[in-house]
Amino acid sequence: MSPARSAPGCPPAADMVHATSSLLLLLLSLALLAPGHSAKKCLLTGVWTNDLGSNMTIGAVNNRGEFSGTYHTAVADMPNNITKSPLLGIQNNTVCQPTFGFTVRWNFSESTSVFVGQCFIDRNGKEVLKTKWLQRLSVGNLGDDWKATRIGNNDFTRMHTGKNEDDPESPTSATVLEC
Ligand SMILES: *[C@@H]1O[C@H](CO)[C@@H](O)[C@H](O)[C@H]1NC(C)=O
Ligand SMILES: *[C@@H]1O[C@H](CO)[C@@H](O)[C@H](O)[C@H]1NC(C)=O
Ligand SMILES: *[C@@H]1O[C@H](CO)[C@@H](O)[C@H](O)[C@H]1NC(C)=O
Ligand SMILES: *[C@@H]1O[C@H](CO)[C@@H](O)[C@H](O)[C@H]1NC(C)=O
Repeated sequence: MSPARSAPGCPPAADMVHATSSLLLLLLSLALLAPGHSAKKCLLTGVWTNDLGSNMTIGAVNNRGEFSGTYHTAVADMPNNITKSPLLGIQNNTVCQPTFGFTVRWNFSESTSVFVGQCFIDRNGKEVLKTKWLQRLSVGNLGDDWKATRIGNNDFTRMHTGKNEDDPESPTSATVLEC
């Protein structure tokens, strides 16, 4: 490299060479990183359906990660009684594949379920919520407490329903952020 000889107001030539190669490195690393940028950050806002055919609609996630919505189950001990029930939850809204939890207060029976899970983006870019749940049933007395809790799994995928009364918060590019 030749000794630097700079015109007034210009950076020394060596610095310019250095700056240029830094820029090239930056562009190269951006190009290499580009495929990773196709992943989406999962926000739970939207309509989801699970392996049992149950649906849930989740509203906007606020800046503390909190959300509420409604859960429409496909299965129940007394299926004729099923109505939509309220849900309340929280997620980490700053990571690509967040963990979350929510509670469903069944309002057609005296029973409560809690779900915990994580939102994954599969290799096709499709979101899947892998969840486990506990359901607390109401029993008449302390002696029956032993049989009052159920456990299970559900996998949810996003339902793209478009305009639909069940879909007031249909996800847009604004809620499904690039990661
Ligand atoms: C879930 O939504 C689908 C599509 O709209 C519908 O066919 C199904 O009956 C719904 N399930 C429940 C439990 O409401
Ligand atoms: C709904 O549930 C109640 C008990 O909570 C029961 O008495 C009633 O028979 C149920 N109705 C139907 C249609 O299953
Ligand atoms: C059950 O929950 C749904 C959804 O939050 C609500 O629209 C409905 O009014 C509730 N029904 C009862 C009986 O609480
Ligand atoms: C979300 O997870 C990230 C990465 O682990 C952590 O740094 C951050 O504090 C979490 N955010 C919230 C709001 O909990």
